[in-house]
Amino acid sequence: MTFTTQRLALRARTDDDLDDLLALWNNTQVQPMLHSHPFAPMGPKARKDIGEWLDGCVFGSIVTLCATDSESVSSATAPATANTITNANATSEETQKPKDKGGAFMGFLALSIQEPKNRDASVHIALLPQYWGGGYAKEALTFLVDHAFRWLGVHRVSLVVYGSNVRAIGLYERLGFVVEGRKREALWMDNKWEDSVSMGVLRREWAAKYWEDQS
Ligand SMILES: CC(C)(COP(=O)(O)OP(=O)(O)OC[C@H]1O[C@@H](n2cnc3c(N)ncnc32)[C@H](O)[C@@H]1OP(=O)(O)O)[C@@H](O)C(=O)NCCC(=O)NCCS
Repeated sequence: MTFTTQRLALRARTDDDLDDLLALWNNTQVQPMLHSHPFAPMGPKARKDIGEWLDGCVFGSIVTLCATDSESVSSATAPATANTITNANATSEETQKPKDKGGAFMGFLALSIQEPKNRDASVHIALLPQYWGGGYAKEALTFLVDHAFRWLGVHRVSLVVYGSNVRAIGLYERLGFVVEGRKREALWMDNKWEDSVSMGVLRREWAAKYWEDQS
C-alpha cells in the first residue's frame, strides 16, 4: 500500500532503502537534528537499527516523489500547499510507479506511540537537504498528523526539536503545533548549549484548524 499526497508517495520501507536511510542519517546537516548522540559516522549496525526502528513505528514510511513530480527534483522550489488538508489516497501495488519513473528517495516520515493508553503519538521526519524548502515536509506532515487523528484515534501528536532548528520549529508552528516546554541548555552541540523544545498539537486544535466537521 502507498499513500499519496499532492506530490508525494509514502510507502513501506524495503531492504533496498537501507543504504538511502543510512546515507540520510550520515548527512552532516541531518544527523545532528535527529538525535543527541555523538555526531559521528554511522555504519552497518545503524543501518540495521534504523530499518528496525522504522518497522517498529505505528506508521513508518519512506517519502518519495510521485512520478508526476519528478521534474521538480532538482529545484524543489514549489510553494507549500495551502493551509488545508490534501486528501491522501491509498493505492494498490498495481498502480505504484516504478522507481525509475519518479519514486526518488527523499527521506522518512514516521509516527510512534510509546504508551497506547495515553493516545500520544510522536512524529518523526527527515528529508535529504536537496528537498528542503519546497514544502514537502509540510505536505507530508499535514497528511500524517491528520491520519493519526482520523485513523489511529490519538488525542495528541508530540515531538521534540532542538532550539536551533528554526526551520523545523517554524514549520511545526505553521502546521498548528505549539511549544509546550523548553528544557534549557539540555544538549551540547557545535560548541554551545542547545535547548530541547517540546511541541504538540491536540486533536481538538487540529479539528478546529483543518476540519469543517469538528466531531
Ligand atoms: C525539518 C525538515 C523536515 C523541514 O523540511 P523542509 O523541506 O525545509 O520543510 P518545508 O519546505 O515543508 O517547510 C519549511 C518551512 O520553513 C520555512 N523556512 C525555511 N527555512 C527557514 C529558516 N531558516 N527559518 C525559519 N523558517 C524557515 C519555509 O519557508 C517553510 O515555511 P512555509 O511552509 O510557511 O513556506 C528538514 O529541514 C529536515 O529534514 N531537517 C533535518 C532533520 C530534522 O530536522 N528533522 C526534524 C527533527 S524535529
